[in-house]
Amino acid sequence: MRILVTGGTGFTGSHLSRRLLDRGNEVVILDNKEGLFYEELKNRGAEIYIGSVSDRELVEKLTVGCHTVHHLAAAFRQVNLPKQVYWNVNVEGTRYLLDAALNNGVKTFVYCSTCGVHGDVKKEPASEDAPIAPEDYYQYTKYEGEKVIPEFLNRGMKIVTLRPTAIYGPGDPERFLILFKLVNKGRFFMCGRGRAHYHPVYIDNLVDAFQLAADSDRGNGEVYLIADEHYYTLTELVTAIAKVLQIDLKIQYIPFWPVWTAALITEMVYKPFPGIDPPLFRRRVDWFRQNRAFSIEKAKKELGYDPKIGLEEGLSKTARWYREKGYLDS
Ligand SMILES: NC(=O)c1ccc[n+]([C@@H]2O[C@H](COP(=O)([O-])OP(=O)(O)OC[C@H]3O[C@@H](n4cnc5c(N)ncnc54)[C@H](OP(=O)(O)O)[C@@H]3O)[C@@H](O)[C@H]2O)c1
Repeated sequence: MRILVTGGTGFTGSHLSRRLLDRGNEVVILDNKEGLFYEELKNRGAEIYIGSVSDRELVEKLTVGCHTVHHLAAAFRQVNLPKQVYWNVNVEGTRYLLDAALNNGVKTFVYCSTCGVHGDVKKEPASEDAPIAPEDYYQYTKYEGEKVIPEFLNRGMKIVTLRPTAIYGPGDPERFLILFKLVNKGRFFMCGRGRAHYHPVYIDNLVDAFQLAADSDRGNGEVYLIADEHYYTLTELVTAIAKVLQIDLKIQYIPFWPVWTAALITEMVYKPFPGIDPPLFRRRVDWFRQNRAFSIEKAKKELGYDPKIGLEEGLSKTARWYREKGYLDS
């Protein structure tokens, strides 16, 4: 089958694209940069287009002849972007893709949202019908992207929304790497008491979910939280990372709010320089405060989702990749 993966040279998209190529599909990728895996994916036969999901003509062209669209591209990692950029990519880009997919007879559309639409979870574990309470503009626009979907339902295309939790695994050159690097130093400064819950999803488990969502005839119009089997406190998480890195870790607990205030001030100082990320920002500090613990019962029951890789195995594979790439040396 011909399958379009937006964000397909990014972290999650490159894993999904590899899996689709392994299964003999024709993979078309739309991403706004080449990323770490461009050469590998190209050599394996992926058709790669560098451009934006908010380019209406381009998405119209790339959806022609596709059976499935996996829509993962998002304005996400960069923090200091004008709000309009988040809106254009995460909301309008989603609308253009849905529109083009429908026009071109695409059969299945999988939209990658985020568990972040639920914000700080008050009643754990949260399910898909927990309150929607995004805590930043990125999360807000991911939910606005979800809200575009109903007008495209029941017009001959199956649409499934996945809300992954915190994705980790080999190939992520940013978020978990920061954590691994900090733990690798042997001393970890924990803002707050380290008791907030964190719910990871190992990349291969998530890719399984994308396939289940696309392959089965179930899930039309539904939303699914996708996570690993268990969630952890932050102290448990960094301790587990220390274990796979074989580091004797000292965790130092520091008050949360002074660091959060410093992040707010740093963001304000960087505001006049769009495109340059501040070294400290609230989304990063909020990581220590927000509770993220979710139920995956709906995905298990309706899609047959079964996260096979647990934390220790996932962290070990991730650590091995970071070591091979020399990322933990600096
Ligand atoms: N990572 C997580 O923990 C997490 C958790 C929940 C949900 N998600 C969602 O999962 C998806 C994939 O995340 P990821 O961690 O794999 O992120 P990623 O590595 O940043 O991948 C996303 C890719 O999309 C590209 N992109 C951004 N704007 C684009 C545009 N206008 N047109 C085409 N491509 C564009 C990005 O390029 P640039 O780098 O140049 O922006 C990047 O290569 C996203 O939808 C994200 O919202 C992620």
